[in-house]
Amino acid sequence: MCVSPLYAPKEEVLRKHSGHLISRIFLGLVVFVIAALIIADSHEQEENTIDATEDGTSEVEEDTLTEDGAAAEEVVIDPVSKEAGALLAIKCNACHGNEGNTTIPLNGNLAGQNVRYLHKQLVLMKSGERHVQSMVIPLEDVDDDGLQALAMYYSSLPGLVGQANPETDLELGEAIYRGGILDKEVAACTACHGPFGNGNFLAGFPRVSGQTVPYLIEQLRAYREGERTTV
Ligand code: HEC
Ligand code: HEC
Repeated sequence: MCVSPLYAPKEEVLRKHSGHLISRIFLGLVVFVIAALIIADSHEQEENTIDATEDGTSEVEEDTLTEDGAAAEEVVIDPVSKEAGALLAIKCNACHGNEGNTTIPLNGNLAGQNVRYLHKQLVLMKSGERHVQSMVIPLEDVDDDGLQALAMYYSSLPGLVGQANPETDLELGEAIYRGGILDKEVAACTACHGPFGNGNFLAGFPRVSGQTVPYLIEQLRAYREGERTTV
């Protein structure tokens, strides 16, 4: 305990001067200081206890994340689920393409997308939290295993590498992507979507590279207008 080393030398000093009035006053002061120190110490201990609990909780969360991450990685290479996903995807192909790369740009590409992100979106879409009218019926009879299988299937397909249109203002886009917009408190997109737009596997942040431009514009507009609210 840190109280005893503080207490010991002071006790010695007090014994030497115990006969004198000055020492008595000094004694009073020291006792007061020690009492204050003990009280302060007990407060510190209380705070430490709270810190320890907080640390403990965050450790648990990290563990869960690692476990989930590992599990998600295993799922991607699970051929049975992938096959089940491919069968279920038959009813998605008309809108998202046979290999997860659509011919209808506003529908968005799914091939090579982050598996956790895809699963989360499918859950949100099935529950209606992210409402997509044209997907209500296709998702109607798909249970959670099915959603998981679809997510695995699409994430295992090779994603496209986009081709930028040189006529567009690439510099502004790149500047915002890499640096954000300070005045408007827009965070740099790289922080979450990665320097090359590949997203973040463990965190489940979506890949934005290789996505169709009209779909990306529509999503950013929907976020800005508060129509798409999922985070
Ligand atoms: C009738 C057309 C249609 C069908 C069929 C369809 N979708 Fe979609 N899907 C869309 C549209 C349109 C969007 C874009 C929604 C938006 O703008 O938010 C979309 C978006 C998605 C997204 C979100 C992509 C992202 O990057 O966030 C996923 C995942 C998805 N669809 C999966 C599926 C799956 C799996 C099926 C089959 C079970 C399916 N869709 C069937 C039209 C369709
Ligand atoms: C703090 C992390 C973070 C930052 C910074 C960030 N994003 Fe995202 N972004 C996300 C997450 C998480 C999602 C998925 C949200 C969800 O689950 O619906 C997302 C979704 C998106 C989507 C929709 C993807 C799809 O497939 O539908 C687009 C487009 C996007 N972000 C673009 C951007 C751009 C452009 C920037 C920079 C201006 C940016 N993001 C900054 C975390 C971030």
